[in-house]
Amino acid sequence: MDKIFTVRISEDKNAVEILDQTLLPNEVKYLRLDNADSLFEAIKELRVRGAPAIGIAAGFGMYVCAKRLTDGDFYNELKQLGDYLISSRPTAVNLAHAVERMLSAAKGADKESALPLLYEECMRIYDEDREMCRRISEYGLTLVKDGDGILTHCNAGALAASEYGTGLGTLLLGKELGYNFRVFSDETRPLLQGARLTSFELNHAGIDVTLICDNAASLVMSQGKIQACFVGCDRVAANGDTANKIGTRSVAINAKFHNIPFYVFCPSSTIDFGCESGEKIVIEERGADEIKTKFFEKPVAEDSVKCFNPAFDVTPAELITAIVTEKGICRYPYTQSLKELFGG
Ligand code: MRU
Repeated sequence: MDKIFTVRISEDKNAVEILDQTLLPNEVKYLRLDNADSLFEAIKELRVRGAPAIGIAAGFGMYVCAKRLTDGDFYNELKQLGDYLISSRPTAVNLAHAVERMLSAAKGADKESALPLLYEECMRIYDEDREMCRRISEYGLTLVKDGDGILTHCNAGALAASEYGTGLGTLLLGKELGYNFRVFSDETRPLLQGARLTSFELNHAGIDVTLICDNAASLVMSQGKIQACFVGCDRVAANGDTANKIGTRSVAINAKFHNIPFYVFCPSSTIDFGCESGEKIVIEERGADEIKTKFFEKPVAEDSVKCFNPAFDVTPAELITAIVTEKGICRYPYTQSLKELFGG
């Protein structure tokens, strides 16, 4: 199969091109997004997803859409566009970070002078992400050894970022360097990112991956098959509390019980120093259709049955063995260690 890409700017610089991840693993299809509504829809519906990839798409999208804004009220219209994109998914902070960076790049400039600045900034967001993912992956390799069994939840690989990804970066880089990991991928109900994306991605990279139901993780841990848990994240609060895909918290609790290290992989663009603790993180809630009907031939519950479908949960800092960043590895207490590393 040809090498796939997650998100990029088109050659004519007039559109954001994304791999439509809702179709994976059955179809590899790219979409060309050239207006605010199609970008909003693609992020909301998880055609492009994963915290860093959403930030990159928003950066590219702001540049592409800025070309069509009116000259006179340029900055205000750009700000409205940014607010609109941020409202598509509330939990991953990378989206808001990218929008803020684009807005500050354009501040005080008229349209003509702002456009090249916006282009440079969105490319910088993309390049920095590649660099950060690479460094995170190198740090990750210092935490494991050849042959280890790794449990992962959701998808934090190249499909969720520019290259390598965060939570899966160590495994992808490790493979290139000759490591053989045995990976257990939680299917990740309800949208099945583990089944549809992680097992697809690792399989194609030639990594030994076994798909399990989310509720099999505890058993697999008890069988001694897991030496570490690797997950990505959508927002890390200043105290280290971490929001990630729903179910991550259960993985961390299970890991603690079985004495297995639980590692969070995190580029600095995912740390929110303005957010004191996990209690302040807004958790996205999604529709009942994702639980009852999506992916099933027939509904698995009656229409009248109530559903609660939070897309993320927060893992308390004390359950996290280490947070692996592009600048180094932080340990509990994170209020101190994150500040030391990033000066936040
Ligand atoms: O809802 P999703 O698929 O966007 O959720 C993604 C995750 O939870 C990832 O683990 C997180 O964004 C980190 S991606 C490097």
